[in-house]
Amino acid sequence: MKTLFEPFRIKMVESIRKTTLPERIQILEQAHYNPFLIRSEDVMIDFLTDSGTGSMSDHQWAAIMLGDESYAGSKSYYHFRDTVKEITGFKHIVPTHQGRAAERILFECLVKPGDVVPNNTHFDTTRANIEYAEAQALDIPIPEGLLPSVSIPFKGNLDLDQLRELLARTDIHIPLAMITITNNAEGGQPVSMENIRETSRIMRDKGIPFFLDACRFAENAYFIQRDEPGYQDKTIDEICREMFSYADGCTMSAKKDGMANIGGFLAVNNDELATNARNLLILTEGFPSYGGLAGRDLEALAVGLREAMQPDYLEYRIRTVAYMGERLVKRGIDIVQPTGGHAIFIDAGRFYPHLDKSVYPGQVLVCELYRIGGIRSVEIGSVMFGKQNADGSEDEYLGPELVRLAFPRRTYTQSHFDYAIEVIAEAFQNRKMSKGLRIVKQPKFLRHFTAHFAPV
Ligand SMILES: Cc1ncc(COP(=O)(O)O)c(C=O)c1O
Repeated sequence: MKTLFEPFRIKMVESIRKTTLPERIQILEQAHYNPFLIRSEDVMIDFLTDSGTGSMSDHQWAAIMLGDESYAGSKSYYHFRDTVKEITGFKHIVPTHQGRAAERILFECLVKPGDVVPNNTHFDTTRANIEYAEAQALDIPIPEGLLPSVSIPFKGNLDLDQLRELLARTDIHIPLAMITITNNAEGGQPVSMENIRETSRIMRDKGIPFFLDACRFAENAYFIQRDEPGYQDKTIDEICREMFSYADGCTMSAKKDGMANIGGFLAVNNDELATNARNLLILTEGFPSYGGLAGRDLEALAVGLREAMQPDYLEYRIRTVAYMGERLVKRGIDIVQPTGGHAIFIDAGRFYPHLDKSVYPGQVLVCELYRIGGIRSVEIGSVMFGKQNADGSEDEYLGPELVRLAFPRRTYTQSHFDYAIEVIAEAFQNRKMSKGLRIVKQPKFLRHFTAHFAPV
C-alpha cells in the first residue's frame, strides 16, 4: 500500500480552540510580535518545538503509576539508568531536568574562560552555556550545511578538516569537541556514522574528550540505516550503540527522543568527571538518583527512549516531515533540503527577498503564519543567533534566515499538516505585502525567547 498511516490509535483527545483573524491580529500585537509570548490556548497548531510536546503512549502512562518517589535510591532511577546504559553503553548516567542542565554541568566541569568548543552546530542553549562559561562556541559544519538548497545526505556533518586545523593550533585550548545529532540548528540534518567515527578518532588521538548532543539520536540512527552504505541490515539498536561507542559521553534532552514531557541526562565514561558532575547536580538539580525529575518522569523516560527507537514509528515520523516538505517545494517555497528529522525549515530570506536581514525576515514569517492560520513556529536566524553589542550595534549573523516548524511526536495527524501547508501557501502568495520588524527590547542571553518587536 502507498498510504503510510500513523502507527497509533488515539485514545484521548485534546480540543483545539479555533480563533478568528481579528483575534489573532490583536493577540500578536499584545505578544509584541513574539509568538513565545502567546498563550498556548490561543495557538491552533503548535509547531514551536518538538521538545516535550509529544504524546505519551499507554505504556508510558502505565509506567507513570509505577513511579517510585523516594528521595534516594528510587527504583525508577535504576530502571531509567539501566535503560540508558543499555542504549548508550555509557558508564555513568546523571539525570537532569532537561538538556540544558546537562550542558551547564558538563561545561562547568570541563570548560574554562577563553577555551574553544567546536561542534557541527551548537544549538542555542549549548552556545549560551558555553558563552556563559566565557568560552567560545565554534560551529564547524561542512560547507554544504550552510546552503539550504543543497540536497545531500548527512548534511549535518562536522567539517573534519576544520577540526584538524583547530587542533593543530597552539594558541587555543580545546577542552572537548561535540557533535549534535541530528543537527537541529541547520535543519535537523543527520550526521553519518563515518563522520562520528572519524571525529572520535581525531579527538582520541589528541586525548581530548568527544561528546554527542544526542537529543535526536534515534532519528539520526534511522537516517544512517536508510542512507549510509553498510547499515541497511543493522538494527536501530545496533546503530545507536555504535554511534555512542565513539563518544566519551553525551548530553541529552529527553524531551525529544525520550518521548517525555520533561527530562534529560548527562552520560559519561570518566569516573572523576562523573563525580564532579554529580556534585554540581546536587547543588542545583537534586540528588543523583532523581536530578530534578520525579520518579514517574524517570519511568516515562525509560519506556519512551525505547519507543523512539521503534522502526515503524521512525519511518512514519521521517516520512511525515518529507510529506510536508514535498508539498511546499511543489508550491515554489524554498526549504532546507533534504528534509531532516523533526522539522521543516523554510528559507525566509528567499521567501521575502525584499526584506533585509536587519528587519528579521524569519520573524516576519513566524508572525504571518500565526496571523493567517494560528500556527506557531520559530525563527532560527538573526533573531536567535544575532547579538546586540554594548553600544547598541548588532553583531551580524551570517547564516541563513530560517523558520522552523517542528513537529511534536505522535501529536498531529495528516490533516493538520495539510492545513499548515495551506496557511504557508497563503503567506507565500501575499509575501510582497509583508513588512519588516525591529527589536524594541531584548535580554542579554537567548534573546529570541523574550524579545519585543514592533513593525518597521
Ligand atoms: C540540539 C539540542 N540541544 C540541546 C537542547 C536543549 O534541551 P532542553 O530544551 O531540554 O534544555 C535542544 C532543545 O531544543 C536541542 O535541540
